[in-house]
Amino acid sequence: MKIAIHQKKNDFSSKWIEYCQNNGIDYKIVNCYSNNIIEELQECNALMWHFNQAIPADYLFAKQLIFALEASGKKVFPDFCTSWHFDDKVAQKYLLEAIGAPLVPTYVFYDKTEALSWVEQTTFPKVFKLRHGAGSAHVKLIESSKDARKIIHRAFSRGFSQYDKIASIKDRLYKFRNGKNSWWNVIKGVLRLAKTTQFAKIAGNERGYVYFQDFIPQNDYDIRVIVIAGKAFAIKRLTREGDFRASGSGHVLYEKKHFDEELIQQSFEIADQLKSQCLAIDYVYDGAKPMVVEISYGFIKEVYYSCEGYWDRNLNWNPGSFDAQGWMVESLLEKVVK
Ligand SMILES: Nc1ncnc2c1ncn2[C@@H]1O[C@H](COP(=O)(O)OP(=O)(O)O)[C@@H](O)[C@H]1O
Ligand SMILES: [Mg+2]
Repeated sequence: MKIAIHQKKNDFSSKWIEYCQNNGIDYKIVNCYSNNIIEELQECNALMWHFNQAIPADYLFAKQLIFALEASGKKVFPDFCTSWHFDDKVAQKYLLEAIGAPLVPTYVFYDKTEALSWVEQTTFPKVFKLRHGAGSAHVKLIESSKDARKIIHRAFSRGFSQYDKIASIKDRLYKFRNGKNSWWNVIKGVLRLAKTTQFAKIAGNERGYVYFQDFIPQNDYDIRVIVIAGKAFAIKRLTREGDFRASGSGHVLYEKKHFDEELIQQSFEIADQLKSQCLAIDYVYDGAKPMVVEISYGFIKEVYYSCEGYWDRNLNWNPGSFDAQGWMVESLLEKVVK
């Protein structure tokens, strides 16, 4: 039994390697970008790759590589059920509707006339999003039908860049003011006014569809619950000041009192239904009812080091630090042994 690991700085891989070393698990470092990757993997039973939605090459082929391996009989992390909908809010709409999860009502149109006639019948504000993106980068409040029509015209003409220069500078400035990043980061944003990112160039503009959600008001935070191998942990993310968006704000609360056990139970159930190895579910509240905003398999591991503990499948609370990336390796090993 040998696990192949694609190694990269600042992702899950360092913790996977540490877990393998501490537990005497045979592993091999591989390079998923190599043309010979399939050959490199021949001696391995499994591949673990924390691919990233913002890296151009990963965007181009990560899912294709891991699904190919899974189809050939190897164990992979993340597997198909865990990752096919990753960084794709359109896919998530259909998936969450199909399993009857409490998704915030979500509307997607592939036809301009249909989208425009929906605008005449619906209410505002709505939230407009691109299907890809993280950290609230492509999430906007649309206050009126007039603004929605503008968005729709653009979605069905030149579309939207995956790098929103102005929003990026605003966010860099916000984080600088809140001590969450450096001056250099703000300057980088200004320098980027003249050019786009490599990612935006490769991914191209988003167009030919338009995505809206009902705006769920009066949420000054969202709750993220992460479920991995029958264990769950959670964080509360406060919105940016004067803004409805929490994701990427950098304001995070960890105390157990912020999290409702029913929500943890519901998250276990959604993860089971999706057959997910690792699932982060983001919720906002419609009154007392938690509503799913989006799901993802990837996260920044360091953010969760301050969690005060985790719940097991029976909702028993286990205080103290834990090794979420170790759980990923364990769940893969169980599968390999079967
Ligand atoms: N429909 C909505 N109603 C109210 N708040 C929302 C809604 N959708 C998103 N948000 C807020 O905006 C943030 C970013 O939205 P999200 O869809 O998670 O985008 P991203 O993929 O960039 O994280 C969320 O963390 C939440 O605080
Ligand atoms: Mg989000």
